[in-house]
Amino acid sequence: MNENSLIKALVKETDLIPVTVIGLGNMGQALAAAYLAAGHPVTVWNRSADKADRLVGNGAVRAETVAGAIAASGMIVVCLSTYEVVRSTLMPLETELTGRVIVNLTTGTPDEARLLDMWAKEKGIEYLDGAIMAVPPMIGSPNALILYGGRKELFEAYQSVLQVMGGGTTYLSEDTGVALLFDLAMLTMLYGAWYSYFHAHALLRTANISAEKFLPYASNWLQHLIVPMLTSPEAARILDEGNYTTDVSNMTVNKLALDNIVKSSRELGVPADWLLPIQTVTEQMVARGFGNDGFERVFESMINRSVPTPPGRI
Ligand SMILES: NC(=O)c1ccc[n+]([C@@H]2O[C@H](COP(=O)([O-])OP(=O)(O)OC[C@H]3O[C@@H](n4cnc5c(N)ncnc54)[C@H](OP(=O)(O)O)[C@@H]3O)[C@@H](O)[C@H]2O)c1
Repeated sequence: MNENSLIKALVKETDLIPVTVIGLGNMGQALAAAYLAAGHPVTVWNRSADKADRLVGNGAVRAETVAGAIAASGMIVVCLSTYEVVRSTLMPLETELTGRVIVNLTTGTPDEARLLDMWAKEKGIEYLDGAIMAVPPMIGSPNALILYGGRKELFEAYQSVLQVMGGGTTYLSEDTGVALLFDLAMLTMLYGAWYSYFHAHALLRTANISAEKFLPYASNWLQHLIVPMLTSPEAARILDEGNYTTDVSNMTVNKLALDNIVKSSRELGVPADWLLPIQTVTEQMVARGFGNDGFERVFESMINRSVPTPPGRI
């Protein structure tokens, strides 16, 4: 063994710290399995104990109580259904948790993460908050994106251990709520896009056009129009700088397009209610004299400009 591989082996051994996973739903089981596969000693706890059976078969230790699970490891990965469940599971055990690191991967609101972090700080518990931007089969793979907020030094100290859950392990901010803010941002884009996709196909269905037939057109539209519109540096600059001048497509033209989608959908018997708030805000923008600005100006109706976000900063 040469010097480099010896160092690598030693680091690997040091990194194989015991890990506890609390919550063995679909996601928690995948997280625990990733640690087992990487060779960590793994202790697990779940309200329905049988969900630990497969993991125990693969070498995990089943804790009979949450307190027992906490006592087994310095790093406690928590993946439960809601923050309410996290609070009721962990808060009665503050003494047992003191001096340990909680890595909470449960989905919730940014403020729930911040408040739990404040509680942890008061109790002398280390806390990182993570948002998993992946599904269980991706856990442990290089592509699994997991975003973190919390104390940077703490993240760096545990980074290699956290990377076992996903190669896309990424630190975002000292603000513990920012990981869940990213989660919200990405999921709201997902549901907006997904629902609009169903609306599109409901319209096409009125002329008996299959989803398969529409695929190449949807693909072209996304690739050449929507993706650049939402992911180019120029698109980001428009929002960060609030400069909505356009020589491409103005608010009045977009208002006419929205009016036409709503009118046509109604004529075709396809519900378009989800578009009404967008139609209303566009109408208001035109009425307020912004007809020549780009559609991006609707963003102004959602934000408070007195709390500016410096471009490029988190
Ligand atoms: N699955 C995904 O694709 C995915 C992706 C990203 C993020 N997440 C997040 O990961 C978290 C877990 O998701 P999941 O897919 O694993 O959900 P899940 O399969 O529904 O599992 C929920 C977990 O919460 C536990 N739980 C619920 N209520 C409880 C209570 N009152 N007391 C104690 N334990 C309770 C369940 O225990 P029992 O087994 O006893 O019911 C189970 O361990 C969620 O916050 C989710 O948003 C999931």
